[in-house]
Amino acid sequence: MGRTVLVVGGGGREHALTIGLLDSPSVAVVHVAPGNAGTAGIAINHNVAAGDVEGQVALAQFLDVDLVVVGPEAPLVGGLSDALRAIDIPSFGPHSAGAMLEGSKDFAKQVMLDLNIPTAGVQHLTDETDLDEAIDIWGSPWVVKRDVLAGGKGVVVTEDRTEALDFIQTSIKSDGMVLLEEFLAGEEASMLVMMDESGFVTLPCSQDHKRVGEGDLGLNTGGMGAYAPAPVATEAVRARAISEIVEPMHAHLSSLEIPYRGCLYVGLMIDDDGAPSVVEYNVRFGDPETQVTVPLISSDLCELLLAVAEGRLADSMPTFSTHHALTVVLAAEGYPGPPVKGRLITGDLSDYVDSNGRAFIHHAGTEISDGVLISTGGRVLASTGIASSLSEARELAYLKLTEVQLEGAHFRRDIGYKAL
Ligand code: AMP
Ligand code: GLY
Repeated sequence: MGRTVLVVGGGGREHALTIGLLDSPSVAVVHVAPGNAGTAGIAINHNVAAGDVEGQVALAQFLDVDLVVVGPEAPLVGGLSDALRAIDIPSFGPHSAGAMLEGSKDFAKQVMLDLNIPTAGVQHLTDETDLDEAIDIWGSPWVVKRDVLAGGKGVVVTEDRTEALDFIQTSIKSDGMVLLEEFLAGEEASMLVMMDESGFVTLPCSQDHKRVGEGDLGLNTGGMGAYAPAPVATEAVRARAISEIVEPMHAHLSSLEIPYRGCLYVGLMIDDDGAPSVVEYNVRFGDPETQVTVPLISSDLCELLLAVAEGRLADSMPTFSTHHALTVVLAAEGYPGPPVKGRLITGDLSDYVDSNGRAFIHHAGTEISDGVLISTGGRVLASTGIASSLSEARELAYLKLTEVQLEGAHFRRDIGYKAL
């Protein structure tokens, strides 16, 4: 008898996890809550919001699932994994105390400082009237972070002193405190680490494209595209990141009364000498990083996630394919500001396969309404290519994207440019 799995969330990341789970020989059926039009086509969607912890627990019990895979951070911070484990339902994703690594940037900084993990220096600012000296401790560019879950929008990195001052003042007014960080120069990469108290495994490093515009210009977004493996994370860089960042964190998290069981997303900054430091932690899979890393896992995804949820990863290490993956996000008009929703999506969204590889559409903000496909969010969908080289993967992803139409939509034409 195959396993029954519930995936919590409704974005591109959850569509990618659902595809990976359905490709797992051990899986019989996948439920998704709330899901999107992409998951509706291959799994069973349920109308329960990702952040509705009680509703998700009730659904998992009703469906009698073997495993819950939690996509976004909010239900983790809200205690979904704690509640599921209390009734013996295995959950992939940390308990609420572990989720504080993402829930509070200040807390995460303190843990890193305690463990001597390389990261940017930080100052706490609480007085909005007396900033003149404080703001120039490191000078330009200024990195200012609100200590709230803000979906990637609580951070300002700017060379404009007035903009930095304004953001500091409004943040102190609303939150009582804001963090000023030392600017780290270098190239970013995302390292997704699956861990439990028995061990950890790093997925191939990927690179996101956080700015809305080509050449990494414009406003920050949730991520406009990604690719993996990212060559900036050479074997030497990965080895340093593992010994200086992942191992101490894993040892610490495994020593806690309730160990960390899930994905730790390490946002790395790699300087010119190949020295990695931590920009941020997330306590979940990245979006869109998942779309380019999960397809590179060649062993049974469900067995892997279940092993982590049950604390026996060391006996269930995954294997990886040697392929490359690249995904391009199609965003709605207005994004990353308020997006125009409810527009018709047309074209050929079916999988494309040729001798070079394959391409397919990951849905994110989509829904079937009155029998037609419409947009419901800022990041609407992503076109993902998988091939034996990065340039072929890119070609396939962009080719597939030309077959989809959404009025007013925009996407970056340079995904992968740092590697190609
Ligand atoms: P965060 O939400 O902390 O990941 O910040 C969002 C983005 O801001 C990161 O992906 C980086 O591109 C940038 N950023 C954050 N902190 C720093 C830093 N200390 N130095 C340079 N860039 C940063
Ligand atoms: N792509 C960035 C994130 O998932 O936080």
